[in-house]
Amino acid sequence: MDKYVIGNLKMNLLTQAERDHYLKSFIDEVYKAGKFKSRLIICPPSFHLEKFIDFFRGKKVSVGAQNIYFEQRGSFTGEISALMIKSFGAEWVIVGHSERRRLFGETDEVCNLKLRAALEEKIKPILCVGENLDQRKNDLTFEVVSRQIESALKEVVSTQIDKLIIAYEPIWSVGSDEIPSSDEVMQVKILIRKKISELYSPVLAEKVPILYGGSVKPKNVKQLCLEAGMDGVLVGRESLVPGEFLKIVQSIDKN
Ligand code: 13P
Repeated sequence: MDKYVIGNLKMNLLTQAERDHYLKSFIDEVYKAGKFKSRLIICPPSFHLEKFIDFFRGKKVSVGAQNIYFEQRGSFTGEISALMIKSFGAEWVIVGHSERRRLFGETDEVCNLKLRAALEEKIKPILCVGENLDQRKNDLTFEVVSRQIESALKEVVSTQIDKLIIAYEPIWSVGSDEIPSSDEVMQVKILIRKKISELYSPVLAEKVPILYGGSVKPKNVKQLCLEAGMDGVLVGRESLVPGEFLKIVQSIDKN
């Protein structure tokens, strides 16, 4: 299976100068380093989507949105739809990121509606799941992740399942520099595969890339991705620095 390195730029690159500097550094650092085997996806703020899509066209980097609304068009002030990002050339969208669940009240039901809205427009969802610290302390990780997957995939049919990426992002690890052991990550990966296998089939379960996200850095990518047997990583802060992002890509490519 291909390996994926996804950058979630979150609400950064606030000015035109910052954005242009980022894109220039990406060319200087990442492209000058030569070819890469991993599949790269960058998810900028929606305000920059069009610019990023134009910039990365033909450069072997796909572009995704960080969020969409589940309706296609209409009176939904402040929202963007799957059809809208698709018509500008985005291929991916992050669904159910913990920051959206926690800060914007996104429920499992809403995540399911967004995931289905994306698939409907042939936009590939990157579904984020993961437990918070309390749930981890109370040994509820498997239960929480299982429930999130089952709810998110409700009414998703088997022909759509290989369009999906699932990212295990323990909430306590996002932005904190706290990280799980490779064994802990691997256990959750096994659980996710088992869950998809039960819901669909073992063959389909093998087709879904399962990534790790949360405080990924060049120095811990071996532990969090390679030793844990993950199919790639979803990177927050380090994706803002193309040179560091490149080191993560190179570590994954080497193995
Ligand atoms: P950090 O890599 O900054 O911890 O963020 C992870 C994340 O939320 C990626 O979606």
